[in-house]
Amino acid sequence: MAYTTLECTVEDGVAIITITRPKALNALNSKTLEELAQAFDQIAAEEDIRVLILTGSGEKAFVAGADIGEMSTFTPLQARAFARKGQAVISRAQGLAIPVIAAVNGYALGGGCELALACDFIYASDKAIFGLPEINLGLIPGFGGTQRLPRLIGPHAAKEMILTGRYVPAQEAHRIGLVTQVFAPAELMEGALATAKTMASKGKTALRAAKHAVGQGLNADLCTGLGIECDAFALCMASPDAREGTGAFLEKRKPVFTGKLNG
Ligand code: CAA
Repeated sequence: MAYTTLECTVEDGVAIITITRPKALNALNSKTLEELAQAFDQIAAEEDIRVLILTGSGEKAFVAGADIGEMSTFTPLQARAFARKGQAVISRAQGLAIPVIAAVNGYALGGGCELALACDFIYASDKAIFGLPEINLGLIPGFGGTQRLPRLIGPHAAKEMILTGRYVPAQEAHRIGLVTQVFAPAELMEGALATAKTMASKGKTALRAAKHAVGQGLNADLCTGLGIECDAFALCMASPDAREGTGAFLEKRKPVFTGKLNG
């Protein structure tokens, strides 16, 4: 499918979506949100895609937020519809069965930070800058930031960012648990691709089950979460990959996972 605000490539089971509105620092307008939704649907339908990397074009920005020009004349009802749409698209990224890495190459502000937060983990260049600066516009985050950020870094650190709009550079973002690894800018995509290929080489059912158990468990109490883990563990045993993985260990060889969902 051809997009006007995105580029999508697939290689060795790893899809890369690059948001390409460099003149607006890759800001998310309605068109970009619609195209992201289509791209996520397309990726979900492709059995051979095992991992997704999300990044931004150019060296300056991952995504500098929702498009302020488009938002500036919204009525409250239009604002609610826009926030609902952004939340739905971003939740779609989170809900993909495959792992999603955010490769943050520059500014990840407002809706850009919120998009990264919905990914399974964030790799950042040492030039990356995170922030929820909506307070400086007389607004609050509307694409999930008030909910996902406190769940990730804790309510106090999140409220400090949201209530002040302060920018958080990559190394600090790493220290507070927002970012998993920091790279030199030229090495960011290489690092993300290496991790993506490592994950793509694992058993497909186990990858999906692990993501499902963590994601669903975080929305539940511990007892319910442990039940979710038991069911997901049992589901893995129904996949040929579990027989292959355990058998290969006992035979002292490397496993060859086929990625079949049941056998
Ligand atoms: N929306 C629309 N356009 C944007 C944009 C955004 N979020 N961020 C940057 N741009 C545009 C600028 O208007 C500028 O366009 P022109 O060249 O046509 O003037 C271009 O991108 C380059 O930006 P700057 O000249 O401002 O670049 P800079 O290096 O001086 O500053 C920046 C970079 C600090 C990121 C600055 O652009 C900035 O503060 N951007 C806005 C960040 C922001 O407030 N994001 C939150 C948006 S609200 C939101 O996301 C709500 C939500 O949760 C749903």
